[in-house]
Amino acid sequence: MAHKDTFTKSPTETGTLREGLLAWFGANSRKLPWREKYVPYQVWISEIMLQQTRVKTMLPYYHRWMARFPDAASIARASEDEVPRFWEGLGYYARAGNIGKAARIMVSDYGGEVPPDFDLLRRLPGIGRYTAGAIMSFAFNADYPAADANAGRIFARLLDIDHPSGSKEFAESVWRAATDLLPRGRSREFNQALMDLGSMVCSAKEPSCAQCPVSGCCIAFRKGLTALRPVKARKATVTQIVRAAVVMVLEGRVLVRKRPESGLMPHLWELPGGEVPEGSSPEQAIRRIWAEELCIRLGPLESLGVIKHSHTAFRVMLHAFLCDGCGPASGWAETGPRLRWVSIKELEKPAFPSAHRRIIRAFLERLAASS
Ligand code: ADE
Repeated sequence: MAHKDTFTKSPTETGTLREGLLAWFGANSRKLPWREKYVPYQVWISEIMLQQTRVKTMLPYYHRWMARFPDAASIARASEDEVPRFWEGLGYYARAGNIGKAARIMVSDYGGEVPPDFDLLRRLPGIGRYTAGAIMSFAFNADYPAADANAGRIFARLLDIDHPSGSKEFAESVWRAATDLLPRGRSREFNQALMDLGSMVCSAKEPSCAQCPVSGCCIAFRKGLTALRPVKARKATVTQIVRAAVVMVLEGRVLVRKRPESGLMPHLWELPGGEVPEGSSPEQAIRRIWAEELCIRLGPLESLGVIKHSHTAFRVMLHAFLCDGCGPASGWAETGPRLRWVSIKELEKPAFPSAHRRIIRAFLERLAASS
C-alpha cells in the first residue's frame, strides 16, 4: 500500500475540512480552565500536565497547582520539596523537575514570562516539538501545528496513514499533515478542534463517524478502515520486577529516603528498599539492602502486603514490611538531607511514589485500627 507522505487533499477538500472542523469546535468545544483566557503560563502548565495524562485525571491537579503556584516566579521561589508534592500521583515525575528548572529560566531570562518564541520554548526543559507548538498556537495563536495522540489518530484516518503509530514515519506524516492543514490565523481553534474531536468523536475504539463533521473527507471511513487506523505499534516487552520496602518505626518516627536526582521519579521520597534478585526471598533481600545501604540490621519483620503497580514497560510487585526495631548489633544510618526520620503525624507530607503512598496508608490504617 502506498504511503501518503504529503497531504494530498484538493484545495476544495482542504477548505471543507478546515471549515467543518472549525464550525464543529465553535459548537462543541470542551470548557477547560486554561482556555478561558489563554494565559501563557496556564497553557504551559496544562500542556506539561497533559503529556501522558488525561484531561479528567489532571484537572484536580491543575486547580490545586494554580491555587499554589499562580505564576512562574512562585514556582522558582518554592522549596525543592514542595513542587513534587503537587505532582504526587500524576506520574512521570521528571515533568515536575523540568517545570521547576524552566520556571527559574523564565524568571532569570524572560522576566518571569513564557517566551512567545518556538525556538526559545524548545530550549526549555520538558518542552519538545509538540509542546512548543501547542504553547505557540494556544497561548499566542501563532501558526504552529500541535498534533497530540488524538490529532494523530484523526490524521491517520483522514489520510489513511498506514505507518505504525509510535514509528518515526508516523510522527513525521502526522506533523506534515498538521502543518499543511493549518488555517493561517486560526491555529488556536483548529488545533484544539482536533484534540476535542479526537477525544469526543474520533475515539480510539468505535469512532462515532455518524457525528463526525469531516467524515465526508475521511479516506479510512470511505474504505471502511477506521478500526484499523492508526496501525497499532508493536507491544513493548514488559519486564517483571520484584521489589521490597520497609516501614521502620522507632519512637513514633519512620525512616524515609530521598530518591536519586537521576532516574525514575527524581525528588520524591520513598520507604527504603530495593530490588529483590532472582533466587532471593523478599525478606532476605530487604535485610541485605538495609544492612549494606543503611548499616541497619532489621529486627523481626511483619508483612504489610504486596502492592502491584506498573509504570511504562515495568510491572512491579512491591513487598511491604513493617519493622519496629533493629537487631542487636545494628548501627545507625546517618541522617541528612536525603535520609530523614519523619514523625508518624507528618508522614502524609512528603511526596512519595503512589506505591509507597499505598504502603503508608496501609500502615496508618493498621495503626488506627490497633489504637
Ligand atoms: N491534550 C493536550 N493538550 C490539550 C489541550 N490543550 N486540550 C485538550 N486536550 C489536550
